Amino acid sequence: MQVKLATVSGFCGDDGKFGVSGAIRLAQEAALSNPGKVYLIGELVHNEHVTNWLKKSYQIKVVSSLKKVPAKATLVIKAHGAPPALYQEAVKKNLNIIDATCPMVKAAQTILKQLIDHGKKVIYVASSKDHDEAVSVTSQVEHGVKIVTLSGIDDLIIKKPADTVVLTQTTLSMLETKEKFEHLQKKYPLLTIRPHLCQATTQRQQAVLSLAQEVDLLIVVGAPHSSNSQRLLEVARSSQKPSYAVNEASEIDHSWFDPSILSVGVIAGASTPAWITQAVVKHLETL
Ligand code: F3S
Repeated sequence: MQVKLATVSGFCGDDGKFGVSGAIRLAQEAALSNPGKVYLIGELVHNEHVTNWLKKSYQIKVVSSLKKVPAKATLVIKAHGAPPALYQEAVKKNLNIIDATCPMVKAAQTILKQLIDHGKKVIYVASSKDHDEAVSVTSQVEHGVKIVTLSGIDDLIIKKPADTVVLTQTTLSMLETKEKFEHLQKKYPLLTIRPHLCQATTQRQQAVLSLAQEVDLLIVVGAPHSSNSQRLLEVARSSQKPSYAVNEASEIDHSWFDPSILSVGVIAGASTPAWITQAVVKHLETL
């Protein structure tokens, strides 16, 4: 089997400067300076392999709520950000806060606050209403924002389009947002639409489309609850090439590879570690 890896794949963040790799670097540094006293509420990034590795190799404790973090411990805020109430509670508990929120998410939080301060209503388009990023961004304001999913856009009734702005989660599908937003803009010409997809997301989606032209089948490596990985799968499928997502090499199903499949393209989501992707590539090369 000929295996081709996408030109852009895996962790976003320019080797530790921001995004997933930046969040991991901050968590590693926190763990090295405060061994055994570093906590995360939920996953730092949406990938269980990363979570398990941080727990095992760095003794970072992953808990379900702030109540489970002892006073004066170090709390790393996940890459998707957190609501203001969590920061306030963490300060009250004298926690050492390490903020690993991706700058692109921080930017969305700031834009939303500014829009509401200027009297606008905001429609925030998310992959799901309870996605961590959607919660962290929309909780920055107490009123004036409505969360919708892309599939809910067609049913929207906007009463004051001239005073309304549409903002998005960073990891949506560029193809689907384009299509939905063109339709929405036609319906409401006075509406302001500000897509906020990050460059890491669009680059990986463009990379999977160009990879699709060179191979017979596509594999996206990423977690089922990772929005960017699942959108990558949707974009891959739009190419009409058979496309599948796996969380790790053991999930590869040999029945996907009939004799007409001579080459396979592999791309990893922005929260997938390289060692998982390499294991997938190695496994495919043996087929
Ligand atoms: Fe940030 Fe985009 Fe990565 S929002 S965490 S650069 S996928």
